Amino acid sequence: MNPETPIFIAGHGGMVGAAVVRELRRQGFSRLLLRTRFELDLCNGRAVEEFYRKERPGAVLVAAARVGGIHANQTYPAEFIRENLAIALNLIHGAHRHGVPRLLFLGSSCIYPRSASQPMSEDCLLTGPLEPTNEAYAIAKIAGLKLAQFYRRQHGVLFHSAMPTNLYGPGDFYHPTNSHVLPAMLRRFHEAREQGAPQVTLWGSGSPRREFLHVDDLARACVHLMSLADPPDWVNVGTGTDISIRELAEHVRDVTGYGGELVWDTSRPEGTPRKLLCIDRIAATGWSPRIEWREGVARTYQNYLQERAEGRLRE
Ligand SMILES: NC(=O)c1ccc[n+]([C@@H]2O[C@H](COP(=O)([O-])OP(=O)(O)OC[C@H]3O[C@@H](n4cnc5c(N)ncnc54)[C@H](OP(=O)(O)O)[C@@H]3O)[C@@H](O)[C@H]2O)c1
Repeated sequence: MNPETPIFIAGHGGMVGAAVVRELRRQGFSRLLLRTRFELDLCNGRAVEEFYRKERPGAVLVAAARVGGIHANQTYPAEFIRENLAIALNLIHGAHRHGVPRLLFLGSSCIYPRSASQPMSEDCLLTGPLEPTNEAYAIAKIAGLKLAQFYRRQHGVLFHSAMPTNLYGPGDFYHPTNSHVLPAMLRRFHEAREQGAPQVTLWGSGSPRREFLHVDDLARACVHLMSLADPPDWVNVGTGTDISIRELAEHVRDVTGYGGELVWDTSRPEGTPRKLLCIDRIAATGWSPRIEWREGVARTYQNYLQERAEGRLRE
């Protein structure tokens, strides 16, 4: 992509969107089109059309979405499927109608079947039932991936997708119950240390295994994919390695300096037993992750402390 290309980053205020803006600026891209939700509600198809007609971006990155942890997905399934379907349809169809040549849609590894063999390659899509705790969100993301694929096939536009694994890093969302496991843990352990709590109780058994990718690595992958002349229709983006939730909890305990006891509440849902992506396809295009999870978590705790101190913690 030419550094003068006007690029629309949908969701630039979110964790991923902000990281992509940092990476594009670091690589010398100067014409970034950024709109807050209040300036442009992406669920409003007419407003999105008007934006495209006026601004005519040369490329679009779809990093906007209704995102959340197990509790939020289970409590608001109707919003999760409606808003994510609307965002995908408005941005992908609108881009085609207004001649945007290039678009990268972001989905998530939850698009793959609950009991897919691990690590999960792109080819296991639609080969089995989804994880029930986030099915609404997963179906909207599969629809977005297929929208991009079929607009590309029918109209020859360079619309493609990336499916990241669990992400973490600066600008994450730290709501006590509605956020993802890692930000929830960082906050929980930090507050427990501050309050001198004797123990911290975590959901599940600690045995599920998860993969965590630092958002700056994902941002590099997005810019890399948007510079490929013929990218795959969709690619997984991850580290290719996983850890147990217990290992993660013990590292977060150490990083936050919490000295109390860890208790596991096995009456609570814990999601799929294992979720690890196969990253051979993106690796074959020349991208690889750089930030190791222990180092990444330690850096992210410092981000958390700074965001708190500056009153800009998202919660
Ligand atoms: N976080 C993860 O672990 C993870 C893992 C895999 C894939 N992903 C994917 O990565 C993408 C970004 O996720 P994220 O973690 O960066 O989420 P995030 O921090 O919640 O950011 C989402 C952004 O989208 C904006 N947005 C949502 N609905 C909108 C609307 N109707 N109109 C305008 N803006 C709207 C939000 O605006 P407000 O700030 O106003 O709410 C926010 O800035 C998503 O597609 C997600 O599926 C995330």
